[in-house]
Amino acid sequence: MTAEELRYLTDHYDEKIAQIKKIGAPLNFIFITDQHNELANSVVPAVESMRYILERCPEIRFLVSGGDIGNDYHADPAEMRASYRRIMDAMYALNIPVHCCIGNHDDGIGNMIDHHLDTRNAILPDEMRAICGKYNPTDNNYYYTDIDTDGGGYRFVFLDCTDKPYLTDKNGQYPFGWRLEISNEQAEWFENDALNTDRSIFVFGHSPLSNAGIWGTEGKPDGIKPYDDLLGGPRLTFHVRQCKKVLALFAGHVHYDNVRYDGDLPQITTLCAMLQQWAPGCPERTAGTVTETAFDVVSVKGDTMYLTRFGAGADRRVDLLRARPSNYNRIYYKG
Ligand SMILES: [Fe+2]
Repeated sequence: MTAEELRYLTDHYDEKIAQIKKIGAPLNFIFITDQHNELANSVVPAVESMRYILERCPEIRFLVSGGDIGNDYHADPAEMRASYRRIMDAMYALNIPVHCCIGNHDDGIGNMIDHHLDTRNAILPDEMRAICGKYNPTDNNYYYTDIDTDGGGYRFVFLDCTDKPYLTDKNGQYPFGWRLEISNEQAEWFENDALNTDRSIFVFGHSPLSNAGIWGTEGKPDGIKPYDDLLGGPRLTFHVRQCKKVLALFAGHVHYDNVRYDGDLPQITTLCAMLQQWAPGCPERTAGTVTETAFDVVSVKGDTMYLTRFGAGADRRVDLLRARPSNYNRIYYKG
């Protein structure tokens, strides 16, 4: 779309851009998740509108996509793949690195099973990496990248929450739809490699490591629990609680905004970017208005993280308690 055609979005952006400028953080990035892009009802304009922000905020270093990128609901596997490529092409055209977590919709198997389709048309991990792993230097669908800033060194860890066995049954079909899993191999990499650094760490995954206390994971009809807990999640939760270099966790999947503190560790989830009011507990969404989408510019400044919302929902401020020199425990335990 042209800049003129995107004005229904970008006309609302100047005030937000001014906020980001005022914060003046040394580390800024975009977090968008659950695009569920359809060719006919596309999230591409929202991604194209990011160019307006990036032209005015060159301090934004990269984009993180939280998974569930395309239209796995479509019965034609070619249309499904085309919807993925179109949203990825739009993100790659922004000229900042794009780091992708893979969602539990992305291999297509869950919907294929639900609709009695042939799961041999699934997008297996190698093809998925070819679609969305341009900035992934590894042969796995999980990796990390290190970023240096004036405010210190950071590590961004991107988990693969769909790291399940792609085994077939006697009919050659893939039986594990929707399944959220961290493999033993990935968990060992996380513990021994990803967390083994002096840098401050942010961890991204499609699903929360733990659903406990996350709004939307229970309480129908206002909140809808999408599916099961992450297999292997308790093991990673143990390690992020232990490793105080981890400053915060990010996830999508639940399609709600949450900031939940697990002791001194904030866990953030973000609304779906697609045009859908997932449940009555979510903000209303209207086509042709700024609420058509939702994504954040995340600004990290010392012990505070500012999430500036573009689209539906509201700005959030997160205390990075583990980044505080007078640490959290001393507030409660005197002497
Ligand atoms: Fe989703």
